[in-house]
Amino acid sequence: MLEDYPKEVTLQDGFKLTLRPMTKYDFDGLYRFFVSLAEFDRKHLRNDTQSRVLIENWCRELDHDKVLPILAEIDGKIIANATLHRETHGWSKHIGEIRMTISPQYQQKGLGFLLVNEIVNLGEKVGLEKITAWVVTSRDYVIKLFEQNNFVPVSTLKNYVKTIHDGCYQDVVILVKDLKPLSAQSAFRGDEK
Ligand SMILES: CC(C)(COP(=O)(O)OP(=O)(O)OC[C@H]1O[C@@H](n2cnc3c(N)ncnc32)[C@H](O)[C@@H]1OP(=O)(O)O)[C@@H](O)C(=O)NCCC(=O)NCCS
Repeated sequence: MLEDYPKEVTLQDGFKLTLRPMTKYDFDGLYRFFVSLAEFDRKHLRNDTQSRVLIENWCRELDHDKVLPILAEIDGKIIANATLHRETHGWSKHIGEIRMTISPQYQQKGLGFLLVNEIVNLGEKVGLEKITAWVVTSRDYVIKLFEQNNFVPVSTLKNYVKTIHDGCYQDVVILVKDLKPLSAQSAFRGDEK
């Protein structure tokens, strides 16, 4: 599944970067990356990525079957982190979730689009049937980015999440991409006669 990495890619304006899976030894680089994010972006993340303890735990407890993080690097510096989250058991085993964050100076260069594709391809390789993205509705361009990658908004949860910095409720939209045609997705539906 990870045999294609490290992978060299070139962005629209000529920036060359390397994509590779995160390892347990990426703690320092990953922490530096998260503290360098713009406040505006940090406000809309689901975790407090300024917490060293949190990033340390992510690295220490790294298990690619649960969370598969792909890092983008330029000259050894992490500039983006995209993750595929999976359940190892239970009724969501066939569903993955994508999360991603990109350094402010490398946004709007097509990297977001590229990383969505990367995670979707990995999801297909591990046999997932669906991938979801959860986005705060005020981030209209993030929603558009997923829609351009054939994610479909299926539901909006009103006043559902609370932003970490101020505890304010936000609406969140769930977008879903089917990786297989619906007809091929499940062997049995409990409501079918
Ligand atoms: C969301 C995010 C990953 C997008 O990455 P990106 O590399 O900028 O995305 P792309 O360059 O592929 O752009 C995709 C589209 O979004 C638009 N876009 C990206 N950033 C934008 C911004 N700040 N304002 C307006 N439009 C923006 C691009 O112009 C492009 O639109 P187009 O196709 O009409 O040209 C990046 O903004 C980010 O890391 N944000 C902080 C974390 C976050 O919100 N993650 C999403 C939760 S999963």
